[in-house]
Amino acid sequence: MNEQPKLTAASTSPLRGEIAPQAREGVGNSTSANVALSPHPGALTRSDPPPQGKDVEVLRHIRKPLPHDSGPKHVQGVAQYIDDIREPEGTLHVAIGQSPKARGRLISLDVSAVRAVPGVVAVLTAADIPGKNDVSPAFGDDPLFVDSDIGFLGQALFAVVATSRDTARRAVKKAVMEIESETPSVSVDDALERGETVLPDYAYGRGDPDAVIAQAPRKLEGQFRVGGQEHFYLEGQVALAIPGEDGDIHVYSSTQHPTEVQHVVARVLDVPDAYVTCETRRMGGGFGGKESQATQWAVTAALAARITGRPCKLRLDRDDDFILTGKRHDFRCDWKVGVDEEGRIQGYAVDLLARCGYSADLSAGVVDRAMFHADNAYWMPAVHIASKRLKTNTVSNTAFRGFGGPQGMLAIEHVMDQIAWATGRDPLDVRYANFYRPGENVTPYGMEVEETDTLVNLVRTLEETSNYRARRKEITAFNASSPIMKRGIALTPVKFGISFTLTHMNQAGALVHVYQDGSVHLNHGGTEMGQGLYIKVAQVVAEEFGIAMERVRITATTTAKVPNTSPTAASSGSDLNGMAAKVAAGAIKKRMIAYASEAYGVPEEQIAFRDDRVFIGNESLPFDELAKKCIAARVQLSEAGHYKTPKITWDRAKGTGRPFFYFAYGAACSEVIIDTLTGENRLLRADILHDVGRSLNPAIDIGQIEGGFVQGMGWLTTEELVFAKDGRLLTHAPSTYKIPVASDVPAAFNVALYPNANREETIYRSKAVGEPPVMLANSVFCALADAIHALDPEKPVPLHAPATPEAILRACEALRGRPMG
Ligand code: MTE
Ligand code: MOS
Repeated sequence: MNEQPKLTAASTSPLRGEIAPQAREGVGNSTSANVALSPHPGALTRSDPPPQGKDVEVLRHIRKPLPHDSGPKHVQGVAQYIDDIREPEGTLHVAIGQSPKARGRLISLDVSAVRAVPGVVAVLTAADIPGKNDVSPAFGDDPLFVDSDIGFLGQALFAVVATSRDTARRAVKKAVMEIESETPSVSVDDALERGETVLPDYAYGRGDPDAVIAQAPRKLEGQFRVGGQEHFYLEGQVALAIPGEDGDIHVYSSTQHPTEVQHVVARVLDVPDAYVTCETRRMGGGFGGKESQATQWAVTAALAARITGRPCKLRLDRDDDFILTGKRHDFRCDWKVGVDEEGRIQGYAVDLLARCGYSADLSAGVVDRAMFHADNAYWMPAVHIASKRLKTNTVSNTAFRGFGGPQGMLAIEHVMDQIAWATGRDPLDVRYANFYRPGENVTPYGMEVEETDTLVNLVRTLEETSNYRARRKEITAFNASSPIMKRGIALTPVKFGISFTLTHMNQAGALVHVYQDGSVHLNHGGTEMGQGLYIKVAQVVAEEFGIAMERVRITATTTAKVPNTSPTAASSGSDLNGMAAKVAAGAIKKRMIAYASEAYGVPEEQIAFRDDRVFIGNESLPFDELAKKCIAARVQLSEAGHYKTPKITWDRAKGTGRPFFYFAYGAACSEVIIDTLTGENRLLRADILHDVGRSLNPAIDIGQIEGGFVQGMGWLTTEELVFAKDGRLLTHAPSTYKIPVASDVPAAFNVALYPNANREETIYRSKAVGEPPVMLANSVFCALADAIHALDPEKPVPLHAPATPEAILRACEALRGRPMG
């Protein structure tokens, strides 16, 4: 081993998720788990347990930067999405009739003119629903079609089924309705004034932060607003439902949660679950937007298929997708902090006020997760975390990458900056002063942070590799001589809890078959949305059998093969499904070993699967030959595996427990430049060091980190949702809603993985990666605030998220003492 391989992303074309050639080779050629991720230059002590047992085993597929299994198909345009499935003959198309008012009562709905349009086959209203008029994930408050109370502007009142999509969409407009409308609540403040919520308030904490803050050497308080975010998956919401015999129905849905689609189709159609199959090969992005909110469209297509007896497809137009589906929750965070002269927190109190929209949807979990991340990485001796789930007459907000975590975390990062501005200290030093440390490592919800060293070491390493201190000096000098253009830098940490906070959801199943030719059919409950789950689980199965990747056939997720699954969410897809698949493959392998041991008279310990062969004592044979022999000997080569996450407990009523199996860590250092006369801005450089444990697939993981960071940056800088006073969403297309593009990615973009085995027994000691990187983008927001701060270091920066050019200009003008109003 000569040069240590360095795992660093290429600084070019980062959106493609490519990694540098040296990384490819470095990782690809490594034979041992322990050298796969070499220490980052300057990496300090590691919290890895010493390698032992399986960890020193030679790994053939795990930790290899294998490309996404659908990558070539994506770029060739042959990966099948639902709208690419060849439509069965006679397929009908569905369009949604939307409410023109945000709040009120539907008095009458006359669809006779709609029915009269040539090509219209059926019109579906609440009266046509055989079962329950409810598509909600839990609380029973999301009607498929409004029958009386209107919750938001755009809400589905009815659906038109026609011979073409165009006919259906035109016919929708012919409906005549009478609505008794009321003034809607649109913002958090409207809802607070009316006192309307979708779920009860919730709070926890320790000590008496009010008293502590009152006596603290310094007290600060404020109100901080964090914006929402549209998912903007490239493939919009879509479903195709095909009726079978006896009331069977097969639904192809672009969903993160096939099991929920199955249940809700059955509930609405009033048939047993066993009559409904939901299948999902892939999504063109989900990002949480298809966790609960793909259901309604699948159910509408299924109802149309039931009523017409023909295949029915529903694909939302992009504008309708914006209007009809929920987004990231926006928050108002009312905070109060007491600190000592060093900027160490003595007491913190925050009220997280979330705009949930008209129904509960997933707001219980989303706002809980905002609360769980209100501390981020910081010790708070006295603390009170409170929340309100406010009801507004806007679309029901839902899961979005990070699931509330980013909002809670950004608030405390903003407070860190406020402390730095008040004490005149470097914001990074304020952060260091507050990190969890041994003895001061219990979260506000009573969970112990066991790995206190990981984050501090990771941040110190990044501080060195990003050259933070020298650049800080240089930026200060630049700003001193540049009155208009100002630069800013920030280094912020991420600590993100991994597990569903609803304990029972932390389970998964997988189904593995070995066929007589040695090919392997792999199925599991997780869904593929571009995040690379399928390839990771396939790597696990190939590793277990010691076979070539090509032998493993990845197959579409379906409720008929693996039942009763959780959504693919909470970043836990590979943790859960990887383990379930390992259990299934391991059980088959065990039976093959038992057979071989007996047949060849060789002890089981002397049988090994590797290099596509099975080594039995001094002999070996190809994997497929052993499979054939096993079948001849009547050995079962099929198995369903199941996994449930250990250790987790959460008592919500008491506000204490261990909701997370472990934390994933990361840190980012971002440098920006702003034009203080226009608010224009640019991210110049970003350095990221992120903890994925021991990576299952570093190419996929780095892609997730880059993509998550850029998506987070869009949330915090350019993506702004604007609702008019009547509840109409004004930003419902790319013309008015700006997501980041390739040119927004910084020219210098350095992403590295922190070498740190998961101390918990996760799949090959990896850590979840899907959501945490979004919050690395907090550094961009804080860097922008830092740049504005240079205008007047005596004042705090009144910047809220998103930091659009307008928001930046407004903050600049406020610092100059000429508020824009
Ligand atoms: N990556 C891509 N390319 N597309 C997506 O839709 N969703 C994110 C993340 N990464 C998403 C993605 C979200 S919200 C989650 S919860 C995780 O992937 C889910 O997948 P995992 O659990 O397998 O990481
Ligand atoms: Mo991700 S927001 O948990 O689907």
